[in-house]
Amino acid sequence: MAKGADDKKRAAAEAALVYVQAGAVLGVGTGSTVNHFIDLLPTVRDRITATASSSVASTERLVAHGFTVIPLEDVDTIPVYVDGADEVTDNLEMIKGGGGALTREKIVAAVSETFVCITDDSKCVDVLGTFPLPVEVIPMAQRHVARQLEALGGRPVLRDFITDNGNIILDVHGLRIARPAEFETQLDAIVGIVTNGLFAKRGADVLIVADDERVETITR
Ligand code: 5RP
Repeated sequence: MAKGADDKKRAAAEAALVYVQAGAVLGVGTGSTVNHFIDLLPTVRDRITATASSSVASTERLVAHGFTVIPLEDVDTIPVYVDGADEVTDNLEMIKGGGGALTREKIVAAVSETFVCITDDSKCVDVLGTFPLPVEVIPMAQRHVARQLEALGGRPVLRDFITDNGNIILDVHGLRIARPAEFETQLDAIVGIVTNGLFAKRGADVLIVADDERVETITR
């Protein structure tokens, strides 16, 4: 029977609970799929001593459930980080940042040993780029960055949004990203970009995808 997207997100989130390690700091991402994960965490409360979060919104949700959220500054390494994606390939490369939390998500991912991506099947693609690529930009660099993105073949559109870090987001339309890691490196070199939403150089290690019939786990 066909499931709604929300049911699939919840199923993927539930399947990720087995990755929660006892006594370790748990990395928690941002978005509607992760919100299901956070809402399910009380079922494994005995395993969780502390969490590290990638956004103000997730921090507030974790605190509302009674979990301790520690600043990433106080953490050397995170064994497991669970987060969603806007697009993901078979190689576990992703576009992220639809919720605007890409910079903190990339930082938490960088200090995590295992990145578990949870998603419904609508996010699975052969080639990244149909979902507009979010790019977080220092406000004064907006026009400069937009010109650079146009030169790379994209069509940047300013989002009506300010990030948790006080920056703007340009959503880049019209891309077909055949080599995500190379493109991520090119974007990393543009002055004024804080973070781009390509998670290819540090992709996911585990992908949990829910479709109408089942929940599948793919490991890198
Ligand atoms: C937030 C993100 C999210 O993981 C991504 O947008 C997926 O969100 P959702 O689970 O709501 O579909 O990168 O910045």
